[in-house]
Amino acid sequence: YTVDWDASAAEKGGWDSFMDKEIHEDPAAVQRTLIGRMSDDGTIHLDEVHIDEHELKAVDKIIVVACGTASYAGMVAKYAIEHWVRVPVEVELAHEFRYRDPILTPRTLVVAISQSGETMDTLMALRHAREQGSKVLAICNTQGASIARESDAVLYTHAGPEVAVASTKAFVAQITAAYILGLYLAQLKGTVFRDEIRNTFDQLQAMPRKIQWVLDTQPSTIEQAAVQLADARSFLFLGRHVGYPVAMEGALKLKEIAYTFTEGFAAGELKHGPIALVDEGEPIVFIVPPARGRNVLHAKVLSGIEEVKARGAYIIAVAEVGDKDVERYADVIFWRPECPTLMSPLVDVVPLQLFAMDMAKQKGYDVDKPRNLAKSVTVE
Ligand code: G6P
Repeated sequence: YTVDWDASAAEKGGWDSFMDKEIHEDPAAVQRTLIGRMSDDGTIHLDEVHIDEHELKAVDKIIVVACGTASYAGMVAKYAIEHWVRVPVEVELAHEFRYRDPILTPRTLVVAISQSGETMDTLMALRHAREQGSKVLAICNTQGASIARESDAVLYTHAGPEVAVASTKAFVAQITAAYILGLYLAQLKGTVFRDEIRNTFDQLQAMPRKIQWVLDTQPSTIEQAAVQLADARSFLFLGRHVGYPVAMEGALKLKEIAYTFTEGFAAGELKHGPIALVDEGEPIVFIVPPARGRNVLHAKVLSGIEEVKARGAYIIAVAEVGDKDVERYADVIFWRPECPTLMSPLVDVVPLQLFAMDMAKQKGYDVDKPRNLAKSVTVE
């Protein structure tokens, strides 16, 4: 009598793949990253950030450097941080940043975002920034990693170890950490009222429950969509505002693990070129912002949907529950529960992660170990 002991199956805790397990840890990744950040008096704490408060207060420009998924988390954070802190935020791919003679001063804060903390491109970028006299803060998921060690300060994401090559739970944790940093800087600079900081923090705390709702209610729709679209040759992903980086990330997930040709871009660009690609049956994923509060962005995204629908596109929408306009045009809808626009990326990426995974499964690929990719790229 022998016991069939599969160590890797045990680590997967009953899930088919690490990716499946890790997507289901999205709510916990956000929740754990928020722990201990807000005190009873309504102030944000970053205890482990050992950059002098005066120096942080004097910051007049932020440059996020990162690669892949982490760079899209940075792009999401740009919208929130500029809105709250009123400081310009640039987001740059670490490998481009490093070799273009970027303008760095002691008042520039460079934020290096990396799940592994070992991505060589990002490490080289932060070394360059420090040589030029800028402070570097790392947002990192791995204790003691090179990027964490070589930065002036670290804000750890607490997503837990991520095994699947395609990053999922680390992404939502990175957005959460970058938002905490933004709120902290707003508090230091006095650009947001204290009540509003607390209110925004409460909105963040409500997100794990909303992500869980998506995980509980949307998977069968998502799987059906994957069954139907498994043979599609290409996909376009479109979004505006914070929906734009979410579209980029959704497109990246699908190309990484389902090997489907995808392009993500800002929905406003549609008429400036990409609409030429739209043909009968072309699947197009739209990230639709909330309609509430007469959100002007909602109307804009909707008109993009109408335009491609008129050309025969197959519309997949990520939209807020009860969005009647979207119901009118979309062929498939992945629903998101009500939440403020700035919080929406934390939920909107979840169905796209599941969709990419289901597509890869339909096509018979190894979702955890896609061909040609490494979890952490330690060469330049
Ligand atoms: C690799 C991985 C991506 C990841 C990127 C950045 O390319 O395949 O999934 O987003 O590196 O990794 P990091 O560990 O720096 O976040």
